[in-house]
Amino acid sequence: MSRKTELILALDADTAAQARSLAAAVGERLQWVKVGKQLFTREGPALIGELREKYGKKVFLDLKFHDIPNTVEQAVRAAAAIGAEMVNVHAAGGFSMLQAAARAARENHLTLLAVTVLTSLDADELRETGIDCRPEEQVLRLTRLAGRAGVDGVVCSAREIAPLRQSMPREFRLLTPGIRPAGDDCHDQKRVMTPGQATRAGADYLVVGRPISQAPNPAAAVAAILREMETAQLPETAV
Ligand code: C5P
Repeated sequence: MSRKTELILALDADTAAQARSLAAAVGERLQWVKVGKQLFTREGPALIGELREKYGKKVFLDLKFHDIPNTVEQAVRAAAAIGAEMVNVHAAGGFSMLQAAARAARENHLTLLAVTVLTSLDADELRETGIDCRPEEQVLRLTRLAGRAGVDGVVCSAREIAPLRQSMPREFRLLTPGIRPAGDDCHDQKRVMTPGQATRAGADYLVVGRPISQAPNPAAAVAAILREMETAQLPETAV
């Protein structure tokens, strides 16, 4: 039986007050929230503890560490110390850095993901950084590097789920943003998948922001997305 796909709310807020009201509005069925650079830089570690203790959320700290191995290793330990359950690094930091991060994550029971190629980079921009291959080749190269270093999984775009699923062992985790319920506004996302499609394709975690945070009733939006994921997850014979 494959692992259940989990839903993560992107808490892309400016202030702790906005984050708190969203965390309260989504209700208990939503277990995970993602805190990124915008909110963390303003509000810091105290909010992570609060989301965990007061709102019962698991926190994915999306800070994409990229530095020398020792610095990243200590940063991963710090993420665990402030209460995060998942954290990420740039795979481009190299094998030693990934291994050091994976060691810190393992010892602190954190899930560690790697970012491969930012989806904002196209082939031309990638070439300007000295990487002269198709972005999807670089994604696969960095994913394999991360896997060899002991990283638990990668952040990937919806269209990368299927090829990466084929190339990596089933326990390797795939986390995907760019998810939109059918008929929803795509905002600035260019290639989107519905929660059902991404679940069927084999994503382990779906990151959803605005379709929940801007919904008139965020808890109802969460319930509808979870329902769609559960239906997609049913064994073929039961559908
Ligand atoms: O509001 P929306 O559902 O588009 O939010 C998606 C979240 O996932 C945001 O926090 C965004 O920064 C993040 N993300 C993304 N695409 C990537 C990497 C991260 O949308 N390639």
